[in-house]
Amino acid sequence: MSRDAILDPALHRSRRQRLLDALGDGVLLLPTAAATTRNGDVLHEFRPGSDFHFLTGFPEPEAVLVAFPTGAGRHRTVLFVRQRDKSREVWDGRRHGTAGAKRRFGADEAWPIEALWQRLPGLLAGKTQLFHRLSNDAAFDRRLLEMFKALAQKHRRRQPPQHPTISDPIPALAAQRVVKDAAELAALRRAGAISAAGHVAAMRNARPGRAEFEVQAVLEAEFRRQGSPRNGYPSIVASGANACVLHYHENDRTMRAGDLLLIDAGAEFDGNTADITRTFPVGERFTEVQAAVYRVVLRAQRAGIRACKVGATWDRAHKVCLRLLTRGLVELGVLRGRLDGLLKKQAYKPFYMHGTSHWLGRDVHDVGAYQDAADKPRRLVAGAVLTVEPGLYFAPRDPRVPAALRGIGIRIEDDVLVTAKGPVVLTADVPKEIAAIEQLRASAFPRR
Ligand code: GLY
Ligand code: MN
Ligand code: MN
Repeated sequence: MSRDAILDPALHRSRRQRLLDALGDGVLLLPTAAATTRNGDVLHEFRPGSDFHFLTGFPEPEAVLVAFPTGAGRHRTVLFVRQRDKSREVWDGRRHGTAGAKRRFGADEAWPIEALWQRLPGLLAGKTQLFHRLSNDAAFDRRLLEMFKALAQKHRRRQPPQHPTISDPIPALAAQRVVKDAAELAALRRAGAISAAGHVAAMRNARPGRAEFEVQAVLEAEFRRQGSPRNGYPSIVASGANACVLHYHENDRTMRAGDLLLIDAGAEFDGNTADITRTFPVGERFTEVQAAVYRVVLRAQRAGIRACKVGATWDRAHKVCLRLLTRGLVELGVLRGRLDGLLKKQAYKPFYMHGTSHWLGRDVHDVGAYQDAADKPRRLVAGAVLTVEPGLYFAPRDPRVPAALRGIGIRIEDDVLVTAKGPVVLTADVPKEIAAIEQLRASAFPRR
């Protein structure tokens, strides 16, 4: 995160305490994300691990959290971080160092990252459980196994257990993250507002003859201008038939009059991302056929949002959308037959091949179980945030589809907070009604 990201050591401490309370006695071991190479000696932009950042707020690579309960609702936090290094900092940027980890991030103890494998045995001494997710980082796990092997050899005469029980802390952490606390919600609201502003800027900017990536630049410039340091995922800016490619990323086509432009993009704020899709004409107005498809998707999306109520299953919105999209496919002349029969045989599948909702938060497809212990769809609780994103996609050469519809791809996506008083749309500041979109598009073509 940026150096200005909200620093609140008490907040992060309370998150760690909640997690440790849920896990029980043992030691939590959690590295941040690994820095990865892009090409040659160029690295990918570094983003801290979502879980690590949720629990520490610490923004730098090469950092590991160790935390364990000390009784009476308290715990001890040990951070391993990069040491301050004058010459490295000249090349790679400033570091908080061990002193900063304590002073600014509230660690009780902080050590140079190089000391992790020497210090960890002492931190684990007498503990029977280690909470660590294996398989995220093979190199880290190998070091952990080597550490246990070395310890076992050292103590082989006493025949102690070679290692503590290793349990996965991530399900408990995911359960904590899926119901947003006040700070996470504030970040999501802000991410939603910033993202909406970016989408509005893009709606003002698109023109026939411009490249998709020009609109992407305008959209993302607005994200940055409003305080978002990065996107939550790569922007999809898909004109014409490109909208039928769900994860289209080339963004390099020149837009034409008569196209629709589908933009799926979200800004990150304080580690949380929004996830918005809008579809609008590259010219001033929707054609009649485009508008007919758009109305079907919008009607489904509105009904899907209404279905996001406390106590409803999380996939209720999907079921509602499937029914309305299928009815729309009949109205559009794509499908023929009785609604229930069409739904039963999933006749919508070639034109609506993705789900309608996912949890949203630090990860765009956020953590959190979708099934309960009985393997039934989980019921929504207040504080959960999910997307509602129906669409219809008619591939350019699909013979099953009336010719006038071919090459049209439309998705409408908003982010919904579940509350006791009903669904709250966090991304409502970007228009989705046809009349409001066309009004905004008119401003892209000023009259002399
Ligand atoms: N932007 C990814 C998604 O909508 O799920
Ligand atoms: Mn989504
Ligand atoms: Mn999306």
